Amino acid sequence: MRILVAVASRHGGTREIGSVIAGALLAAGHDVDELDPADVALIDPYDAVVLGSAVYNGRWLPEARELAERAATPLSHRPVWLFSSGLATQPASMANSPTEMRDLRERVAARAHRNFAGRLDRSVLSFAERTIIAAARGREGDHRDFVAVRAWGESIAQELGAELAAHAPL
Ligand SMILES: Cc1cc2nc3c(=O)[nH]c(=O)nc-3n(C[C@H](O)[C@H](O)[C@H](O)COP(=O)(O)O)c2cc1C
Repeated sequence: MRILVAVASRHGGTREIGSVIAGALLAAGHDVDELDPADVALIDPYDAVVLGSAVYNGRWLPEARELAERAATPLSHRPVWLFSSGLATQPASMANSPTEMRDLRERVAARAHRNFAGRLDRSVLSFAERTIIAAARGREGDHRDFVAVRAWGESIAQELGAELAAHAPL
């Protein structure tokens, strides 16, 4: 299958999570395109889509939200998985705005949404970002669990592989 992994990232940490998911899908024999959501022109060439974003101030980055909006119809006609990457200290249920996530899931008829802990490197943040993060008591460091990320990618590959096998001509 041809799979799109589209990831919105401000400081690169979430993009690397997307690359590990893409790697798991590739290893399972799928064709994978990794793109920034703003660079996705067409969904039609893809059999399935993984769409992810870093969470800033409780929301997905605009380019990921915009892709979910402008491509809602084609996305809802194929298997779609969503993931978010946020603060390690934030309970998963609090990382995203619950209403925004519910709307996004419904809009693209996503099969699942997964939250992953992210990476917080104060040295690359702007002054405004540092102020926000100090108030939120964000824990500095790389909290990404690439074993869990890869396992999630493998579970997606397995699900798609099983569906492909079920529809293969005898
Ligand atoms: C200014 C700022 C606001 C943030 N807001 C949230 C938030 O509301 N919820 C959350 O879970 N994580 C939040 N984070 C943490 C980021 O989502 C996390 O550092 C993520 O790994 C960054 O991904 P990126 O490197 O792809 O941009 C925030 C980080 C910064 C710097």
